[in-house]
Amino acid sequence: MLRSWVRFLAEWWRDFYHTGAIAPSSPFLARAMTQVLKPPRPTWRILEVGPGTGSVTAAILQQLQPGDRFDLVEINPRFVEWLQIRFASDPRFQPYVPQVYLYPTAVEEFHPTERYDCIISGLPLNNFRSEQVRTILELFERWLQPQGWLVYFEYVGIRRLKMPFVGKSEKRRLYRVGRITQRFLQKHQTQRRLVLINVPPAFVYQVRINCPSDNLHNRSTIPSAVH
Ligand SMILES: C[S@@+](CC[C@H](N)C(=O)[O-])C[C@H]1O[C@@H](n2cnc3c(N)ncnc32)[C@H](O)[C@@H]1O
Repeated sequence: MLRSWVRFLAEWWRDFYHTGAIAPSSPFLARAMTQVLKPPRPTWRILEVGPGTGSVTAAILQQLQPGDRFDLVEINPRFVEWLQIRFASDPRFQPYVPQVYLYPTAVEEFHPTERYDCIISGLPLNNFRSEQVRTILELFERWLQPQGWLVYFEYVGIRRLKMPFVGKSEKRRLYRVGRITQRFLQKHQTQRRLVLINVPPAFVYQVRINCPSDNLHNRSTIPSAVH
């Protein structure tokens, strides 16, 4: 646990843009992020984006059922190495190795061939450029089954807290990111839960994807992009 915090803090210092937090998610936040995986449910394809040191991963593994497939996408090679060590040696991770696929890449470069039933994202969207946020949310919509789940978190009041301390262009970026995520949440069925025991406290968003009707004709494969 302590080593996980130290590693996280080091990565926050080295690469704040992608790490986006000073500490890994607390077990309380991790549990709230994985509520939708609770049985009873059929076997699922699950994707975790931005697993970091694996605090949410551990909670996902606790809910993993035989027959589930669990993919992880992580951009930071040091976190990837850390996760590989955990899957090789941590008794809470080791038993699930046959069901798990770890992809060391940016989510924008990832190309799944089949849809997911659930995507759990730890991405720090509030750090990203607004166009990047839009692209990532569109990818999530495309990769999920109709009525699939997207779960992600956001630190409480983070955009509003930052506003007084940043320049004009950063204010504009934060405003745009807020508008894009707001519109996304309004398009789908969304539940928000507050988790106080986390550094800092966070809202968890559970989003049930309302897909356009044409997606319903092909439930399992990803439609190729139309240019
Ligand atoms: C706020 S941390 C969350 C870590 C972990 N899920 C947790 O809750 O403790 C964000 C994570 O997203 C990863 N990340 C950031 N941008 C990414 C991208 N474009 N593609 C994949 N992973 C990314 C970071 O390297 C980091 O592991």
